[in-house]
Amino acid sequence: MPPTDSIESLLKEERRFHPDPTFVRHARVGSHHAYAAMHKQSLDEPEIFWREQTVDLVWRTPWKTFSEWKLPHAKFFVGATLNLTESCLDRHLTTSRRTKAALVWEGEPGDSRTLTYFELHREVVRAAAALTDLGVKAGDRVAIYMGMVPEVVVAMLACARLGAPHSVVFAGFSAEALRDRINDCGAKVLLTQDGAWRRGSVVPLKAMADVALQQTPTVEKVVVLRRIGRGETQVVMKHGRDVWWDDWLSRVGPGPSLDHAKAPPAFDAEHPLFVLYTSGSTGKPKGVLHTTAGYLAGVHVTTKYVFDLRDDDTYWCTADIGWVTGHSYIVYGPLSCGATCVMFEGAPNFPDWGRFWSVIERHGVTVLYTAPTAIRAFIRAGDEWPARYDLSSLRLLGSVGEPINPEAWMWYHRVVGKERCPIVDTWWQTETGSIMLATLPGAVFAKPGSTGLPLFGVEVGVVKDRGEDCSPGEGGKLVVKRPWPSMARTLWKDDDRYLKTYWDVIPNVYFTGDGARRDEDDYLWVVGRIDDVLNVAGHRIGTAEIESALVSHPSVAEAAAVGRPDELKGHALVVFVTVKAGQKAGKELKEALAAHIDKEIGKFARPDSIRFTDALPKTRSGKIMRRLLKDIAAGGETQGDTSTLEDLGVLAKLRATEED
Ligand code: WT7
Repeated sequence: MPPTDSIESLLKEERRFHPDPTFVRHARVGSHHAYAAMHKQSLDEPEIFWREQTVDLVWRTPWKTFSEWKLPHAKFFVGATLNLTESCLDRHLTTSRRTKAALVWEGEPGDSRTLTYFELHREVVRAAAALTDLGVKAGDRVAIYMGMVPEVVVAMLACARLGAPHSVVFAGFSAEALRDRINDCGAKVLLTQDGAWRRGSVVPLKAMADVALQQTPTVEKVVVLRRIGRGETQVVMKHGRDVWWDDWLSRVGPGPSLDHAKAPPAFDAEHPLFVLYTSGSTGKPKGVLHTTAGYLAGVHVTTKYVFDLRDDDTYWCTADIGWVTGHSYIVYGPLSCGATCVMFEGAPNFPDWGRFWSVIERHGVTVLYTAPTAIRAFIRAGDEWPARYDLSSLRLLGSVGEPINPEAWMWYHRVVGKERCPIVDTWWQTETGSIMLATLPGAVFAKPGSTGLPLFGVEVGVVKDRGEDCSPGEGGKLVVKRPWPSMARTLWKDDDRYLKTYWDVIPNVYFTGDGARRDEDDYLWVVGRIDDVLNVAGHRIGTAEIESALVSHPSVAEAAAVGRPDELKGHALVVFVTVKAGQKAGKELKEALAAHIDKEIGKFARPDSIRFTDALPKTRSGKIMRRLLKDIAAGGETQGDTSTLEDLGVLAKLRATEED
């Protein structure tokens, strides 16, 4: 049973895993008492806490006030100015980290590249100058449609250095999805690559971008990195608009035009850093906006404590750069800590299921941060794969993206961590910017399936609809009770939606969209989304997005998307479709609809099952009853009240729809 549906049994989970005494002895936070004292100070005396915890960061003007807020809006580190990239790069150049590896990159075909802090800084300065050369100024938006290559990190940091907010679009998104995101944020420049490797074949990113670019009036220039090479991909360069990455960079040096020692411009603490689109409960994705100082402080402090990061660690976060985890825990958090980060372009099972373990062995990874859906796939592939590799360098394991079910937790603990490495489960969201809940390693014991305790500056609650606290063990809505530095400041050009989605659901608190329980030890157990958002194999997908994509197909009259518990993916995506009169519902249409989703959103959002039906269950007021569809998709009896259902006969018919 996947985690989201076994909360009752989870609460009976009695196992406690105390961190290894050797780990505790060296841990940054070595006891529950130390954690509690820090947490208390972060809430009671935030000025003192954050002043101390951010001394390592480079402030050009120190902040005067820690925060000012009038919900839903908040400012942090008021009065400060900074250039975030100085904290991630420049500050390391005067220390022994100058020649330390910042990025250890491995490509899918097996090629590799290491960039020291010195080299990464130099590349970023150069790319920033080249962006300036293209006309990019502070405040301009830059879209990035790239895969897991070192240049994507260079691109993000170069934008940050100029104060030009980036919007990274996951390379699995389709041309249409890219187009909509570019248009929503009004990007002036697009950075992309000829193609990306995906399990031995090439995803033609530039060709897809070309389709998007037919309808993106704001984009003036396109820079194309050659990742694949001439033989395998055909790239058409549009004269006057498109430029190859290397030519673009060579326009600005190396030479006297680039003064690497020159300090970059300083920006206000609240200067926008990036826009990242994520799914919500309507068909339109939300452009989550993060700003500079609060975000940096949040990712810096959490990277340091949650991963107990040291200078001699080799840290690997397996997330894609196109999601927030890639932003916060491949780029900004680890680099602000001066860490060595492994970055891997490929898939876990290509050319075989040993690839991840081989990366760990060859690079001597000490801290691994991955997702439960990957862990469950490894369990299925078999213990023999990790057994073939030397994983003894590992000292800490992290999990993110969805609840980690006890079975996956135990396997991770036993087979990967050899019962020696603490597991830190981390709960957070695109909107929270940094990790909010965790089983802080070395400080607290873990309970398989629980995401632990709130981190510094975070005050959470589990509440009922009107905001009253639930009692221990009682299920409710997970909320955050006061603003925190790395929280999203708004949704791009949609402040109203920001207010309505997060701050207007329950009075005066931030609503996460998740359901949770808090147990007697104050440990939190996150059940999963309770809004119209699905988490499919770690990908956040809005049911409304899928539905609006489906109804845009000429044969479809109506569609409803729901999640079905799935052993591997957490949830699988099931859609119920009614066709227009005269259209034939059959295998061919199923294929056409799957291809239509690929085109409108991207392959990762392809439904696991498409079921045709004559009618959808609706209330008398015409609202689709997703709750009933969920039960039917799960293959069970429909639970609860059906008295508001307009036509009871619909249910029997729906159950009879073909399963595939
Ligand atoms: C949603 C946020 C956080 C970065 C990756 C996903 C679910 C995330 C956990 C966890 C239980 C989790 C929640 C959350 N989630 N981590 N450790 N335990 N659930 O970011 O795409 O913004 O999705 O992922 O449902 O709301 P995202």
